[in-house]
Amino acid sequence: MIYYVTVEKLHKLMIDVFTALKVPPEDARTCADVLIQSDLHGIESHGIARLKMYYDRIKAGIQFPETNIEVISDRKATAVWDGHHGMGHVIASKAMRKAIDKAREYGIGSVAVRNSTHYGIAGYYSLMATKQDMIGINYTNARPSTAPTHGVNPMLGTNPLCFGCPTNLPYPFLYDAATSIAQRGKVEVYNRAGKDVPEGWAINKEGEVCTNTPQLLKDLVEKNAALLPLGGVGELLGGHKGYGLSVIVEILSAALQNGSYLHGLHGWQDGKQVPFRLGHFFLAMDISFYTDPASFKQISGDILKQLQNSQTMPGQERIYVAGEKEYIKTQEVRQKGVAINEKLQENIQSIIKELQLPNPELGF
Ligand SMILES: NC(=O)c1ccc[n+]([C@@H]2O[C@H](COP(=O)([O-])OP(=O)(O)OC[C@H]3O[C@@H](n4cnc5c(N)ncnc54)[C@H](O)[C@@H]3O)[C@@H](O)[C@H]2O)c1
Repeated sequence: MIYYVTVEKLHKLMIDVFTALKVPPEDARTCADVLIQSDLHGIESHGIARLKMYYDRIKAGIQFPETNIEVISDRKATAVWDGHHGMGHVIASKAMRKAIDKAREYGIGSVAVRNSTHYGIAGYYSLMATKQDMIGINYTNARPSTAPTHGVNPMLGTNPLCFGCPTNLPYPFLYDAATSIAQRGKVEVYNRAGKDVPEGWAINKEGEVCTNTPQLLKDLVEKNAALLPLGGVGELLGGHKGYGLSVIVEILSAALQNGSYLHGLHGWQDGKQVPFRLGHFFLAMDISFYTDPASFKQISGDILKQLQNSQTMPGQERIYVAGEKEYIKTQEVRQKGVAINEKLQENIQSIIKELQLPNPELGF
């Protein structure tokens, strides 16, 4: 049976779990803020569903609850940081905040980060910029899971690419998605639902289609299967373009910060689990250095409106723009709560039990 739990209860539970794992209170709140934003956006894979992953990684000692950021360089509009395997959400929030502060001073600001950990949804950090009338761009690399065009080895991560900007609509434009057809978290969602993944998402070492979800998750870790870049297998439907976008994300998440990349992000060394050593890239642009923000928002909003109002194809009721579904979903989730399926209920209960937290009265 599926239970719906209020955003407030889940957010508090997340804070309690991170705090019990010795994440300092202010940082625990930041981590919970990013996770709950994912549930609010309707991204099932990266919210409460990922709490166990962080719990396991902290317990395994490959991610540290205390975040100690080292500033490698700080020069006018740019900075390079080392996250020393602290909490990715905290490192990323602080890096985007720094990029925004620099943009306010110089028009643009950018921070490149190495040795970070999984930072959740990229959208959260671009929204930090749009709320300040700025453009926010950010990328992260991720453990290898995606094959290059014409290849079968999982070489690249699902490497999300995120762009956000303000508009004169009730929501910003927010493009926030993996550069693979499906991200690993979506495969996990299919796994929890006991469903096969669709044909076209992944291939095995022979280049054949994989749809068996538990097998795929195992094969991805053992490098016997790979996800496909946006556009899919080969070049016919533009697979090489998704592959190219993913490489851009990989380069900006590694080369500027002298960080790890490709198989350096595997999380295993000599048969032992090690930190993932992820890299991120953040860029904020202060619109007021280019033009009047009101005029920018009028034009960006008009672009979106014209797209929404163009003719739909037969069988489709409407045309969306990026960020719109998240806006609609946020209102729905605030009212109805976050859907928690049985596997996730077990997952949450096991964490509560192990950490001996007081009963959060979630209803299951
Ligand atoms: N931290 C990591 O390592 C990592 C890796 C991969 C993905 N992610 C995160 O996972 C989340 C989901 O990624 P995904 O690849 O599954 O996203 P997705 O395939 O659900 O695409 C989401 C994007 O597409 C837009 N969109 C959806 N339907 C649309 C439509 N009909 N018209 C126009 N735009 C539309 C949304 O507004 C959003 O910007 C993202 O938040 C991403 O940052 C994180």
